[in-house]
Amino acid sequence: MSDLTRDEQQLVAAARAAMAHAHAPYTRFAVGAALRLTDGTILTGSNFENASYGLSLCAETVAIAAANAQGRLRDIASIAVTGGPMGAPSNEVITPCGRCRQIIKEAQDMAGRALPILCAAPSGESVKRFDLDHLLPDAFGPANLGIS
Ligand code: THU
Repeated sequence: MSDLTRDEQQLVAAARAAMAHAHAPYTRFAVGAALRLTDGTILTGSNFENASYGLSLCAETVAIAAANAQGRLRDIASIAVTGGPMGAPSNEVITPCGRCRQIIKEAQDMAGRALPILCAAPSGESVKRFDLDHLLPDAFGPANLGIS
């Protein structure tokens, strides 16, 4: 974590804290996401599973929808995500699933700037920085529908 700025460390810590709120009784895999807004506000999300498995929501999606619900979709500046098996501190970095990558694409295009994505191991041992063009190259997005 040493190459992270203080703000980035705080964002990763918020994502890790959000894992505690995961509703994941089916997979027992807790995920936390945190968004930093342009004014420094941090919003979080946790995965929210459903007995009808396919309806489950990912942590990143929940966090971005929370920002939108507060009228702040265009204010997202960066994202952190972390997750792993409940009760077994993991050193593995996870990256957003495909659906979340597409949802981050919507947030990024509405923000009009690149959103750095910090992917952290729950242990805090390692963090990787990604940009969306790397995670979702040649993405479909609002511009394809004439929206910016
Ligand atoms: N999950 C997320 O919350 N975000 C991702 O990007 C990948 C997967 C959740 C969904 C499910 O509740 C659990 O992790 C296992 O797939």
